[in-house]
Amino acid sequence: MAIRLGDEAPDFTAETTQGTINFHEWLGDSWGVLFSHPKDYTPVCTTELGMAARLKPEFDKRNVKVIGLSVDPLDSHIGWERDIEETQGTAVNFPMIADSDRKVADLYDMIHPNASDTFTVRSVFVIGPDKKVKLTLTYPASTGRNFAELLRVIDSLQLTANYSVATPVNWQDGEDCIIVPAVSNEDAKAKFPKGWKEIKPYLRVTPQPNK
Ligand code: BEZ
Repeated sequence: MAIRLGDEAPDFTAETTQGTINFHEWLGDSWGVLFSHPKDYTPVCTTELGMAARLKPEFDKRNVKVIGLSVDPLDSHIGWERDIEETQGTAVNFPMIADSDRKVADLYDMIHPNASDTFTVRSVFVIGPDKKVKLTLTYPASTGRNFAELLRVIDSLQLTANYSVATPVNWQDGEDCIIVPAVSNEDAKAKFPKGWKEIKPYLRVTPQPNK
């Protein structure tokens, strides 16, 4: 059964390149990104893992822990990580799950048999500190994901969680946000001291609250 937004992220215990991890325990109070790679020693994945490693300071800043998965054994991951360091100029600095029995891939429905019954698709799950799934993305094996978009969505999710704002089309960090409809004008006075512009009663725009 597919995982839907708002579901609890399934828990698991798995071998990783940084030892055995119990997923929920490892997440602690952090946000999490769990993302799958079709197979070790594949070119697109190699570039994605290099990018995710380079962006570690950005994930740290947002209190996000990153964990990758590929359905290959640990020794294969370790050899591949040497290649990633050599070709991408950065060591992989987050755990990679060795999921050769596909336990986690099946739990998260990462294998789509009509695409491939041996490779996973490129899945991404963003998980909140409450262990609930906040975002799912599914890309084909042949398309590398956009990690700037992933950070953009995390920023939006965290703004909603912390300030009761949503973000409009193509929003980028620093731009105006939208007051969620659940907040009354009365409550908005206290919550948004910078004020807001009411374009329509349902469309109230306010400066990004954490800037
Ligand atoms: C890759 O990661 O490069 C890849 C994996 C499976 C199919 C196509 C590309």
